[in-house]
Parts: sequence; structure tokens; C-alpha cells
Amino acid sequence: MAFDKKRFEEVISEFTMDTEELQRTAEAFQREIRIGLEDAGKSSLQMLKSYAGLPTGKETGEYLALDFGGTNVRVLRIRLEGGGKFEIAGKAARPLRVEGEYDYICAEAKAEEMFDFLAGLIEEAVEGDREKKYFLGHTFSFPSEQTDLYNARLIAWTKEFATQGVEGKVVNDLLKEALERKGLSNVEPVAVINDTVAVLLSASYKQDDVYIGSIYATGHNTCYLEPHADAEGRAMILNLEAGGFDKVSRNRFDEKVDALSDRPGTQRLEKMVSGRYMGELLGIALGSLYEMDEMDYGFTSIDMSEMLQKEGSIEGIVSKKLGKVPDMEECRDIQCLARVIAERSARLVAATFVGTMRQLSGKEPIKKQHIAVDGSVYEKMPGAKEYMASAFLELLGEDAGKVDTVLDCGGSGLGAAIAAVVSKQ
Ligand code: BGC
Repeated sequence: MAFDKKRFEEVISEFTMDTEELQRTAEAFQREIRIGLEDAGKSSLQMLKSYAGLPTGKETGEYLALDFGGTNVRVLRIRLEGGGKFEIAGKAARPLRVEGEYDYICAEAKAEEMFDFLAGLIEEAVEGDREKKYFLGHTFSFPSEQTDLYNARLIAWTKEFATQGVEGKVVNDLLKEALERKGLSNVEPVAVINDTVAVLLSASYKQDDVYIGSIYATGHNTCYLEPHADAEGRAMILNLEAGGFDKVSRNRFDEKVDALSDRPGTQRLEKMVSGRYMGELLGIALGSLYEMDEMDYGFTSIDMSEMLQKEGSIEGIVSKKLGKVPDMEECRDIQCLARVIAERSARLVAATFVGTMRQLSGKEPIKKQHIAVDGSVYEKMPGAKEYMASAFLELLGEDAGKVDTVLDCGGSGLGAAIAAVVSKQ
């Protein structure tokens, strides 16, 4: 059964974001930063302190970097050589969940099991060495309350992670205990940073004019260098936890994704833009077009990228997930729907960047700058960069020429190593 054209147009318009809404979003985001700087409790942005400033680019030495935050965990042995240069001397990587084998992120998993798994990867990265002293920087990509560079307490899991016994705990203490259980007391965790902070550190190790770092992947979040972050007026990177931004207008599909999630009501922006949820949005919208139940049909953002790249892939993916075989015209419509969902996502993210840049520039014109972004959606979703660039143009006019987004691939690892150096200075 072909789907109703009128209903299709309606769905498309529900996902379409015009310039006015884009502008409203940028203004609301800036307002939330301003409110958050006065009193974080009153803003949907958490404004979490990182206790890190920008690096000088001269940092050197060999450090361990644990990059933990998506489905894949990586441990790197990194040699910082200064002048923005570095070398990867060793590496171990493994997913936190392998279907039918193990799962350290489900609600049944325990903190101890998860951290023993991490310690195992660290053991692999140092090739079992229990002699040499290693300082470890830890990129932990979840909202954490910090009191210094070491002490980061997980506030709440996001991205549907659910492991027991981690929320409310100092994550590096859990890691230290696991390292001791493995006899790896030569490895000392010294710093924890959010992945957005890692991306900003990593990008500014390599180039000037970077003040904003962002992750656009399974999850979404942004940080920036706040020039007056504490009572003494010192500069510090603040993790906005931008995924929690709630001054966004949601459509019925966004509401459904939220209702089906582990924590309804939270991470509103993240559920509209990030890789973890975008495919689900597409599946629910398609379900409604085919007059089926509006539920999670297991579409992923990888499916979405593929559908956008190759119209020929649509028939196979949709029949597998929905049990419907779309004809050629429907395939074109489905591709159009996937495109508007991806485009809205990129426009929303761009609007939050503009809000942040405007906050940073105050009454002055926006500075010439690069925004450092890492993540699979930014890197791989067809059109993501172009949609962002055209949103900048709509919002900033001529000033859009001063801004570009740069991919800081793998910044999470390098940033963790830089944080480890900074903690030792
Ligand atoms: C987390 C952030 C993180 C982002 C990207 C979000 O779900 O709350 O802390 O930076 O994902 O990994």
C-alpha cells in the first residue's frame, strides 16, 4: 500500500525548520547560557566546570588516554611531541557490548564488571607492563560534576547506558580500584574530561582560534572556553551538556522517541539531533506513514546515511525493518524524509553554535574562528557540514565567512593525554 501523499507532506513540514525558528533557537540557546552562568540550576544547560583551560601546544611526554563514552572504548599510549605533534605508541580498542557475548552497558551490568573490562584494555595497551609509571587521562563522555581535574562524579547516564553502581560515583575511583584488582598500580588516573572538552583541547593543541568543541555522534554536546568562569574571573572550559537544551519545539515524533527512551523528559535536544536517536525518529515517522504502530523499528543513523547515499539501498532496509516493500516513488519520498531529519539535526546544532559564539562575542562582532567537531554524524551523515554552513549563512550573514567547523577526528584520545599533562603542571 502506497502511503498517503498529503500525510507525507505533513510529516515533511513537521521536520522542516525555517530561518525564523533557527534564529529563535540560537537566541534561546544564548539566553540559556547567560542564565546558566548566573545560576546553573535555572538553565537547561548544566554549565559543568572542567577545571581545564586551553593547552599551550608545547605539552610533551608519554601518557595513557582512555576514551570511554560511546559503544567503543579505546585506550591509547600517546607520545606528545609539542608543536601540535603527537604519535600513537600503542592502542587497544573493544566495544562495550557484543550481541550474544557480553554487555557492560545494560541495566543488569555492574560497575565492577564494566571497570574491570576497562582495566583489561589498559593492560593490553601497556602490553602487560607493571613496572613503568603511567599517568592516565580519561575522557568520560557523560555529565559529571567536577571539583577538580581528577574528581568527576557521574550525575546520570545518558545515551541509554544503564550500568548499575556508577551514577553518583567518582569514576576515576572506580577505575583506580579496577586497576588495583588487575595489579596495575603503576597506572595512575590523574584527569577526567568530557569528550567535548577533549576535542577542544586536542584542536587547540594543533591550531589557534578554537574556542568551541563539540561532539556530534551517538550523543551530542558542546563546550566552550568561558573567559570568566569562576569567582576570580579565570578562563575555564565549561561543558554545557547541550544535549539537555530544552527550548526546542518538538513534533509528535520527537515526543514519541522521548516517551520510548529510558529517561523521558531528559536530553531533549540530543534526542532530536544525535546518532543514537535519529534513525529511531525516521522509523517512527515511517511507521506513521504506513499507518503502523509508532514504535522503534530498529532503524539506525547508519541506515539513514546509507539511505541518503544510495537510493537503491532503501527498498532493502525498509523491507527488512518494517516488513513493507516500498515502490520507486516511495523510495524517493523516504529518502526525502531521511534528508529533512538529517537537515533539521544539523541546523539545530548550528543554531546552538551561533548562540554560543554570540555569547562569547558579547557586543563585539563574532571572532574569526574554527569550531572543533568530532563524531560519526558530523563525519559521515551526507550533507551534515553543508546544512550547517547554510544555517550559519542564514543566521550570521556576512559574518558566516569568519566561521567554519573542522573535524577533529580522534580528539577524544589526544585531549585525554593533554589533560593528563595539564594535571601534572
Ligand atoms: C553526554 C555528554 C557527551 C555527549 C557526547 C551526551 O549524551 O551527556 O556528556 O559529551 O553525549 O558523547
